[in-house]
Amino acid sequence: MKQQYSQILTIPKPFVKWAGGKRQLIPILNENLPESFGTYFEPFLGGGALLFHMLTERNGQKCSISDLNSDLVLAYTTIRDRVDDLIASLKNHEKNYQKDSKSYYYSIRASTPRSQIEKTSRLIFLNRTCFNGLYRVNSKGKFNVPLGKYTNPNIVNEDNLHSVSHILQSSKVNIQCRDFEAVLGDAKKGDLVYFDPPYQPVSDTANFSSYTNKAFTFDDLSRLSELCMDLDSKGCNVLLSNSNSKEVADMFSAKPWKITRIQANRSINSNSKKRTGHFELLIKNY
Ligand SMILES: C[S@@+](CC[C@H](N)C(=O)[O-])C[C@H]1O[C@@H](n2cnc3c(N)ncnc32)[C@H](O)[C@@H]1O
Repeated sequence: MKQQYSQILTIPKPFVKWAGGKRQLIPILNENLPESFGTYFEPFLGGGALLFHMLTERNGQKCSISDLNSDLVLAYTTIRDRVDDLIASLKNHEKNYQKDSKSYYYSIRASTPRSQIEKTSRLIFLNRTCFNGLYRVNSKGKFNVPLGKYTNPNIVNEDNLHSVSHILQSSKVNIQCRDFEAVLGDAKKGDLVYFDPPYQPVSDTANFSSYTNKAFTFDDLSRLSELCMDLDSKGCNVLLSNSNSKEVADMFSAKPWKITRIQANRSINSNSKKRTGHFELLIKNY
């Protein structure tokens, strides 16, 4: 049954925990948005923390969201179009997990479901029950995170899934699976493009770039900086977050870019001692 907006009490929030997720940085990102803009583009969508904030705060905001991870994009469209079937499938996972969490987790991790519902419920189930709640695949594209230590993981967050479904059903939200560069063809003068790419490693051990079976390379970063210049020439508002790395600071050192160093907390790190405050870069052209 479709819910009426007035009945929705839950503010929609990311339905997956995602490495590099921006939930903790929402206040500072919000402060750094331009006063007004046309369409909002988010071409490295991930868990979509800023998107959900945007859709909650700005009623009727036109959005164009995309990511290269096809399983993730499928999850967004499944939640939008078939949330009740998805919840039923997740409840089934929850029931089986409660019987024997270890063997059930590894059997689902090894499986390759074909249906839209099962693919998405597998992604959400693994995200809720895996170590550290992160999505990481090997070079063959196979999810390779071990079982996490949870006593009672929240596998079916029904209220949030309904809220996310409702908010994505707006005809003003366009969802696509594509490379970030495609945004150049769509963004127009006055639009806002927020780039939150896989971060440049600040040390040899800090590399996390396996959201898809293709790593985000230095060439991709160069491609991104050229794209930012092209969008600037078109009159778009560009906002970019990245790690506090010299390469990134150098690439955006000239006009029109303004760089701010912001304090952030990284919540996904295999070593909990490293989950402390550190600096990141926020770069914009307005
Ligand atoms: C840092 S995460 C985004 C996190 C997001 N802002 C959040 O709040 O959860 C980066 C995302 O970029 C996606 N990605 C990697 N390479 C890409 C590419 N070439 N084009 C588009 N998306 C890409 C990954 O799948 C991942 O979801």
